[in-house]
This record gives sequence, C-alpha cells and structure tokens, in this order.
Amino acid sequence: MQADAGIDRVLIGREAISRRLDELAQAITADLCAQANGIPDQITLVPILTGSIVFLSDLIRRLPLRMQIRLISVSSYPGTSQASQGAKIEASLSQIPETLVAQHVLIIDDILDSGQTLRLARDLIQAKQPATLRTCVLLRKKRPIAMAFPVDYVAFEIPDEFVVGYGLDFDDYYRNLPDIVTLRSDFVSKAVRQAGSSSGLIR
Ligand code: IMP
Ligand code: MG
Repeated sequence: MQADAGIDRVLIGREAISRRLDELAQAITADLCAQANGIPDQITLVPILTGSIVFLSDLIRRLPLRMQIRLISVSSYPGTSQASQGAKIEASLSQIPETLVAQHVLIIDDILDSGQTLRLARDLIQAKQPATLRTCVLLRKKRPIAMAFPVDYVAFEIPDEFVVGYGLDFDDYYRNLPDIVTLRSDFVSKAVRQAGSSSGLIR
C-alpha cells in the first residue's frame, strides 16, 4: 500500500510547517535568552515519544543553544483508537529523568487534544524542580478543553479533526508523511473494523 493511502486532504503543507518552525525557534531562543539575561548555559528538551520525533528533529536544528534531549514515552491512543484512552507513562523508556533539577526544560509534544498527556508530563517534570519549565506543541485542536490548557508555544491551531503525518500516526502508520493531513472517514472506519478493536472510538 502507498504511504499516503486513505488521505482526504492536506491541512498544513511542508512549506508552511517549515516557515512556522523558523518563527517558533526564534521565539523559544529569545525567551530563554531573556530569562537567563544572556545565552543560557544549556536547555533540556523533553520530547514525548513517538509523535514528536519529526517536529523535534526539525526544531532542534533551528535552536542555536547548548542542548540535551531526554525522551519520555506516554501512551494514550492505543492502535486504531482516535479518542484518548487516558494518558499513562510507559515503563521502560519513561523514567522521568532525575537530572532535571535547576535546568531550563522544554517539553515537546506533537498535539494537544484533551491535554491529559501534557498535564501528566508537566506535573511529573515539575516535581523534579527544574529552573524553568515550558511546553511546546506542534498542533492544538480548537476544542474548548485544548484551548483552555495553558501551553507556552503552539505552532498551529487546527480544527477538531483527527490528523496524521509529520510524526502523527493512525495505528502507528503515516508518521513519515511530510505534510499534516486528514484521513478519509471510510478508510478510517474500515481500518477500525479490520482491527476489530472495541477501543476504536471515533469522536
Ligand atoms: P491528549 O492527551 O488527549 O492531549 O492527546 C495527546 C496525544 O494523543 C498526542 O501526543 C498524540 O499522540 C495523540 N493524538 C491526539 N490527537 C491526535 C490526532 O488527531 N492524530 C494523531 N494523534 C493524536
Ligand atoms: Mg503522542
């Protein structure tokens, strides 16, 4: 099957993503420098796997700062499910680093939907007493719960639709698409039926 099978339409194309990331990286850098009264000693990025990987790789190459990266893993959308099943930190990869104390930390995630994932990550990291803690998402859905959630950097606000591509998945596919796209509903229903998954909730 083609990588782009089942695509409905391109919501945000790769050029628009690239332009917006330039702006975002400038804002993040300027804020950190202002806060540190100059260039900060270092920052620590805490990306949430797996959806943030493409965003992360494009963003870090635009940040001219001394940087460490600590990956964490939070699961909330198993398989073909399109509605959050409640966020939980996964065992192995997910030990929240003990070394975040007194550091400038930036959490990176792909999308803010219900906010459960970001809230969990933020609260666990805050407990490690970083010097500063900020949050950054590629996408925020225009639904009340997501719009009400405090987040420092948002690249794009999007309609309350399920999207894939540029790191975001459906059943772990589509992450490699360079654009952010929606899927055809008939295609999604079929995939959910084939998975025979009772967790295949479509909001
Ligand atoms: P939240 O905890 O409900 O805010 O969901 C956040 C996580 O759910 C994200 O990190 C994504 O992995 C996943 N997610 C939410 N909405 C979408 C979507 O439209 N497409 C793909 N993944 C999504
Ligand atoms: Mg995710």
